[in-house]
Amino acid sequence: MPKRKRKSRNASASEVGVEDDVLLRATAPLQLCYYGNPVLRKRAKPVAEITEAERQLAVQMLETLYATGNGIGLAATQVGILKRLIIIDIGEDDDDTYEPLVLFNPEILRTEGDVVAEEGCLSIPNVTAEVRRPEKIVVAGMDIQGESVHIETDGLLARVLQHEIDHLNGVLFIDRISGLKRQLLRDELLWIQQAERPA
Ligand code: NI
Repeated sequence: MPKRKRKSRNASASEVGVEDDVLLRATAPLQLCYYGNPVLRKRAKPVAEITEAERQLAVQMLETLYATGNGIGLAATQVGILKRLIIIDIGEDDDDTYEPLVLFNPEILRTEGDVVAEEGCLSIPNVTAEVRRPEKIVVAGMDIQGESVHIETDGLLARVLQHEIDHLNGVLFIDRISGLKRQLLRDELLWIQQAERPA
């Protein structure tokens, strides 16, 4: 059996579907915001028009995601920017046509069923919990070109979409677990919160 190909983890303009005449500069990863940072509790604003600045932000967010080494999704809120933009790369390495997902103004139109699965968050390092969420969802939004996108999905993609859309509303996955379970994570959460606070 052939070895699974490892896709290169660099966000390039072509990979996210930006036309060749749009020049995107290579930039350093953005600074992640961690639990305890008040920005994570704010509601992000809709993006009225996708300009080069928004496309640039999407590419920078992908770079930031790949720099983490293990992340599969990021909301603009997590880099301190209150715009309704999420990016997802769940790494379908065996599919040559696979592209990371860039979604502006994502909105959940329909949900069906429910399922429990483990989640973590780049803004809450080393904390995981089982979270119950709808199993199938229909999401609408705009891609990096400003075209309407309609996604009907389940499984990991449905979960990551819901997790990232939650971020745009100031909601964290730990808000969706029982008080008792959250109590068990209290020390870890306090530790992250104190590390985030300016000295
Ligand atoms: Ni998260």
